[in-house]
Amino acid sequence: MSNILCIGAGYVGGPTMAMIAKNCPEHKITVVDINEDRIARWNSDDLPIFEPGLLEVVQEARDRNLFFQTDVASPTTDADIIFVSVNTPTKMFGEGAGKAADLQYWEKTAREILANCRKPNVIVVEKSTLPVRTAEAMARILESGNSSTQFFVVSNPEFLAEGTAIEDLSNPDRVLIGGEQNEQGRKAAETVAALYAHWVPQERLLLTSVWSSELSKLVANAMLAQRISSINSISALCERTEADIAEVSKAIGMDTRIGSKFLEASIGFGGSCFRKDILHLSYLCEYYGLPEVADYWASVVGINEWQTDRFFQNILHEQFNTLAGKTISLLGFAFKQDTGDTRDSPAIPLCEKLLAEHAKVKVHDPKALENARLDLKDLEGDVSFVEDVYEAVEGAHALALVTQWQEYRELDFERIFQVMAKPAFIFDGRNHLDHEKLFEIGFNVFPLGKVPLKHV
Ligand code: UDX
Ligand code: UDX
Repeated sequence: MSNILCIGAGYVGGPTMAMIAKNCPEHKITVVDINEDRIARWNSDDLPIFEPGLLEVVQEARDRNLFFQTDVASPTTDADIIFVSVNTPTKMFGEGAGKAADLQYWEKTAREILANCRKPNVIVVEKSTLPVRTAEAMARILESGNSSTQFFVVSNPEFLAEGTAIEDLSNPDRVLIGGEQNEQGRKAAETVAALYAHWVPQERLLLTSVWSSELSKLVANAMLAQRISSINSISALCERTEADIAEVSKAIGMDTRIGSKFLEASIGFGGSCFRKDILHLSYLCEYYGLPEVADYWASVVGINEWQTDRFFQNILHEQFNTLAGKTISLLGFAFKQDTGDTRDSPAIPLCEKLLAEHAKVKVHDPKALENARLDLKDLEGDVSFVEDVYEAVEGAHALALVTQWQEYRELDFERIFQVMAKPAFIFDGRNHLDHEKLFEIGFNVFPLGKVPLKHV
């Protein structure tokens, strides 16, 4: 039996520890966070994050071998394994501003661990996505004091995607564990692997060096995002040439060498990871004297921003180049379906641009309105947040679909058409709706990467 501690009860730390606790009942798992409100919600049935299936997993293990609290010092004292999943945002000041990772929370956590650890051997697991060689910095801090503890730093990046976290954790493609390439380092990596072996088949437990593990996480996110930017760039070409992006995606995705996933054209990718991790990767390449490689990856982010802007420009252009006083209703604000998370959602720049044109913006989202309010609180202009979708579309000149919530496919669009201003427009930023049917109802329909269906 081990005492496991996790520092940071966010989108990564919370679900991952709940899953380990559920599957490893012999270990005691304590999850700590400086945010009191978050911890209170982890201890209630109103969890701080919306994630299908999460509540059931938490309920099974909570107060049995899974505990949430704010005090970090006492559980550190007798911890055998410490997962660190504090956030590592993009640095917004000084050297590397806008690109490098801000490691201040990470370093603070390392020092806290050093100050409080008492066990003779402690494994510190990097769960947060970090720039390559952060584990080394962590190890140096941990070795800097007079502590009698011997620390082993292991990298174990998390690959779960939001909205499917429980599914991804239950049945991961692989679990990556990077350890130092010596006997003790390998033993530490195997100890972490043994936790996952409770439910993950042995052949999916991948043991590598620390550096390979850290870099693989950044590269996995960069490659996924690169596929989206590639297909989004082609969606623009489709709109000029009358090719259909859905047909192109299907045709190329059937090539087993390419594969069909992550080829859906969109208003742009969002989420806390893709942009941040590509910028870290690009910064890393710059730092190591590889400007061509840095530019290559930075362009993935460039295309993404361009795609969101293109979506906005299309609305402006089709609204006869004036949005002042017109109502634009957003269907969805979360960066993807099945989550309330809005970090880096393309809805944010879209709203900024619409409000700058003096449009009236009405936002609907089934789970993300609380976050949307915070994201837009400093913007000037007429923006409202509406819980009832039919109320949100009333009087709208155009609808902009941002998030592919299933419920948007099931809306009564005849009813919606009746209450909208005419001519009524739909801009589908996810190719999520039945465009032919909308056109028959009377809408002017603007998909991505397809010929628009226009009455006017
Ligand atoms: C994750 C990963 O850990 C991060 O590396 C990745 O790149 C982004 O996604 P996530 O779980 O989504 O982070 O972040 P967040 O939901 O912000 O959770 C981090 C938590 O750590 C927050 O609840 C924050 O309060 C907590 N924290 C932060 C601490 O407890 N102590 C600190 O010193 C800093
Ligand atoms: C991603 C990675 O998938 C995950 O492995 C990593 O741990 C964290 O970052 P996440 O950001 O939660 O996960 O969601 P993901 O499903 O990858 O979607 C990211 C963004 O890409 C979303 O905005 C999504 O809508 C968009 N996307 C995805 C597309 O635009 N087109 C696609 O074909 C797929």
